[in-house]
Amino acid sequence: MLHHVKLIHATKSRKLLGKKIVLAIPGSIAAVECVKLARELIRHGAEVHAVMSESARKIIHPYAMEFATGNPVVTEITGFIEHVELAGEHENRADLILVCPATANTISKIACGIDDTPVTTVVTTAFAHTPIMIAPAMHSSMYKHPIVKENMEKLRKLGVEFIGPRFEEGKAKVAGVDEIVYHVIKKLHEKDLKGRRILVTAGATREYIDPIRFITNRSSGKMGVAMAEEAELRGAEVTLIKTRGSVPSFVENQIEVETVEEMLSAMENELMGKKYDVVILAAAVSDFRPKTTAKEKIKSGKAITLELVPTPKIIRRVKEIQPGVLLVGFKAEYGVSEEELITRAREQMEKAGSDAVIANTAEAFGSEENEVFWVTKEAAEKLPRMGKRELAEKLWNRIGNMLG
Ligand SMILES: Cc1cc2nc3c(=O)[nH]c(=O)nc-3n(C[C@H](O)[C@H](O)[C@H](O)COP(=O)(O)O)c2cc1C
Repeated sequence: MLHHVKLIHATKSRKLLGKKIVLAIPGSIAAVECVKLARELIRHGAEVHAVMSESARKIIHPYAMEFATGNPVVTEITGFIEHVELAGEHENRADLILVCPATANTISKIACGIDDTPVTTVVTTAFAHTPIMIAPAMHSSMYKHPIVKENMEKLRKLGVEFIGPRFEEGKAKVAGVDEIVYHVIKKLHEKDLKGRRILVTAGATREYIDPIRFITNRSSGKMGVAMAEEAELRGAEVTLIKTRGSVPSFVENQIEVETVEEMLSAMENELMGKKYDVVILAAAVSDFRPKTTAKEKIKSGKAITLELVPTPKIIRRVKEIQPGVLLVGFKAEYGVSEEELITRAREQMEKAGSDAVIANTAEAFGSEENEVFWVTKEAAEKLPRMGKRELAEKLWNRIGNMLG
């Protein structure tokens, strides 16, 4: 591996370590994103090989992809039979063919089994035995073309997965780099949570004072989103109940709520509707709400007194509805000693029946990093300060062990 590629290799995660990805690039203007995309896949541990169509080479130079991947770029099929090297049925073949950004032309050719460009030849070679993902990019009118649509449908039925597009400015734009990376990881990740149903709450609730003002807290939703996404990447069926204003998430099944009561009712609906294996309550739920919410905006200029009443305890409802579920709570305290933090975590276990508590100080709110205690009935383990995504991995290893 070239030195400059080594410098970024697996710096974000090891989720794609040992995975060989062919980035097959057709001639869409969005090919300009491929340098970033390749580098990001490498940051998660992948080895990337670029293949370019002739039209793609008119948009970006192969040098850019050589630089980005640190590997030779396939721009034509020669006597080295590059398509077989990369995608033939042998043990050294790629783990995934990612066609990005896919033109209407390339999509339709693949659907018809035509291979007259390096991109389509690699896809045809891989089709029977290697996963293929396609991230389309084209004008809306091309995307709406009945035959292009039919071809996409045909490919879907044959097991090809599509990522995006995003519809903006009259275009079917290629999905964002982070979204593509998420779906690639989801495809290639070990599925140790397959068959598990997991419910996660995330974010800060809002309790309305009047139609535009509310009481909230500093939680960003990052930790809950990281927990939900990690579970989904590991193959679980995840439902994420997330508050409005939280960080966005790529989890497929999301429910947006605002107030504690909305969150409670969404959670009750889920728990009454289907059996879950794990419930993770990472949302920072308001303990109080205004006794009344003014129907109109309260006029400024005069002092007002707000009477606050306690909100329902969401955590207590979980085991009332599903006594057998594995319940993981979060506990955030401010300015207390480590011993006191653990004591309060254990109190939550007694009162709400949680099986484990992730306890941290309120400094974690909104931050990229977190330092927590993993508290169970038997032990309290301190996990050192680390990024929330890495922490989610470590926490899921522990929750996975509890599930057996
Ligand atoms: C600057 C430029 C941008 C283009 N962008 C797209 C695009 O986003 N989507 C698309 O389907 N075709 C796009 N085209 C047209 C394709 O390049 C053309 O259909 C070509 O035949 C595709 O060949 P390929 O699929 O083998 O790469 C673009 C062409 C040019 C010159």
